[in-house]
Amino acid sequence: MRKIVIAGNWKMFKTQAESLEFLQGFMPTLEQTPEALEVVLCAPFTALSLISKNLHGSRVQLGAQNVHWEDQGAYTGEIAAPMLTEIGVRYVIVGHSERRQFFGETDETVNKRLKAAQDHGLTPILCVGETKQQRDAGETEALIAMQLEKDLVGVDQQNLVIAYEPVWAIGTGDTCEASEANRVIGLIRSQLSYPDVPIQYGGSVKPSNIDEIMAQSEIDGALVGGASLEPGSFARIVNYQ
Ligand code: G3P
Repeated sequence: MRKIVIAGNWKMFKTQAESLEFLQGFMPTLEQTPEALEVVLCAPFTALSLISKNLHGSRVQLGAQNVHWEDQGAYTGEIAAPMLTEIGVRYVIVGHSERRQFFGETDETVNKRLKAAQDHGLTPILCVGETKQQRDAGETEALIAMQLEKDLVGVDQQNLVIAYEPVWAIGTGDTCEASEANRVIGLIRSQLSYPDVPIQYGGSVKPSNIDEIMAQSEIDGALVGGASLEPGSFARIVNYQ
């Protein structure tokens, strides 16, 4: 039975004060969500410890947005896994397209980050997905197959979440058709050695489209950007019908 995981990726939004304000509006909405659902907040590093202290015993799990493969060292601006586990972080996004696009992330560094996360008991959320140019050129399947092949070398697929995030759908409001996302996620699953890896869809997930997305047979959750920043909007998403 595959786990359902809905995660909010706050990216570079929310100070500590704004994070607390979000929790005040969001936490009371969780009573009705199904037990099988894992709700994750991937906040900026500066807010993680404060959020952790304000989750006490709730079913919300904490996630980070990146992790280095070394436990310490001269890597300015990076964060090591022990720094995350110490404050109760359980998940970490790895290989987000924005890190691949703007910060030189490669399949090789993604693979190192995935393994380091798992070595410290974190569950990585691996992001894969094609650009508009690749989709228009009919390269979607080949690109994703190549990402999976390189990113998952030596990775424990029984402690993993994958997010299919077509780059052209991120932040654009141009959500991938639910049936097409389901097809691609089915293809991703067919390339895994462990059939029960939860696979999310990400890219302009909104309260208006979450029900259709979650009704798809291959989709096990969502990785949500903009719509996870407002408590009411993210509450509607985690309380999908
Ligand atoms: O990681 C999730 C993010 O890339 C999706 O962003 O704003 O399109 O939901 P958004």
